[in-house]
Amino acid sequence: MHGRSILAALLVALAIVTGGITAVSAQGSTPIPAPAKGKGDKCVAPTDWMRRNHMAALLHKRDATMHEGIRTPKFALKECISCHAVNGADGKPVTVSDPKHFCRTCHDYAAVSVDCFECHASRPGEADKSASAADPGAQAREDTAALGRYLEGHKP
Ligand code: HEC
Ligand code: HEC
Ligand code: HEC
Repeated sequence: MHGRSILAALLVALAIVTGGITAVSAQGSTPIPAPAKGKGDKCVAPTDWMRRNHMAALLHKRDATMHEGIRTPKFALKECISCHAVNGADGKPVTVSDPKHFCRTCHDYAAVSVDCFECHASRPGEADKSASAADPGAQAREDTAALGRYLEGHKP
């Protein structure tokens, strides 16, 4: 296919998609995603590229770190979280439990769910749970200790 007809086809597809979004939002049921702008003036890669490829970049980075021990700041999840932090009413960055969280703005809309934040901190300055995830025993020991403290306070 000629490049221009591909473009035309894409534009038609986009028009259909946009029409769909407008229809949905007119009913007021699903807000159009409006991700907050990150800090500074640019992302770690061109914005358009990031929109389409951040998932692959993150997963690739994760695999490189986990399997090959490669640690580079580019595409580090902590950096995304730090630069894309969105403050809540209390002036503190929200966690992923808040729909305003940067990573949720599009994911909620696209019905994508990521499990990353079960281990990784979803706001800056918060301890990563990935450390204990790397050592599942640590979580178990912590749970056991907590249970011990609880029982200590509830002796018959
Ligand atoms: C140093 C700050 C910074 C870091 C680090 C950063 N970003 Fe960004 N990001 C931005 C800015 C600023 C924009 C908006 C740029 C623009 O307006 O063109 C952006 C845009 C985006 C967008 C597009 C949002 C939209 O409006 O459609 C996505 C997705 C994104 N970033 C994901 C990530 C991910 C994932 C990471 C970590 C791998 C990351 N960013 C790291 C600053 C950052
Ligand atoms: C079961 C816990 C767990 C889950 C779930 C998880 N990770 Fe990780 N992740 C880890 C651990 C542990 C490391 C290694 C920590 C380190 O070495 O810094 C890691 C490292 C990473 C790294 C490399 C370090 C960095 O920040 O550059 C990236 C990127 C990453 N994970 C992304 C993801 C993404 C994206 C998801 C969701 C799709 C995810 N992880 C889900 C535990 C988890
Ligand atoms: C501009 C909108 C947008 C923003 C902002 C955004 N995402 Fe995404 N993300 C998507 C879309 C759309 C998909 C699904 C793509 C697909 O299905 O191919 C996705 C998929 C993913 C996936 C892969 C999920 C899977 O199971 O395959 C990961 C991991 C991910 N995003 C991480 C993040 C993180 C972390 C952030 C915040 C730093 C973020 N995204 C912010 C739009 C966004």
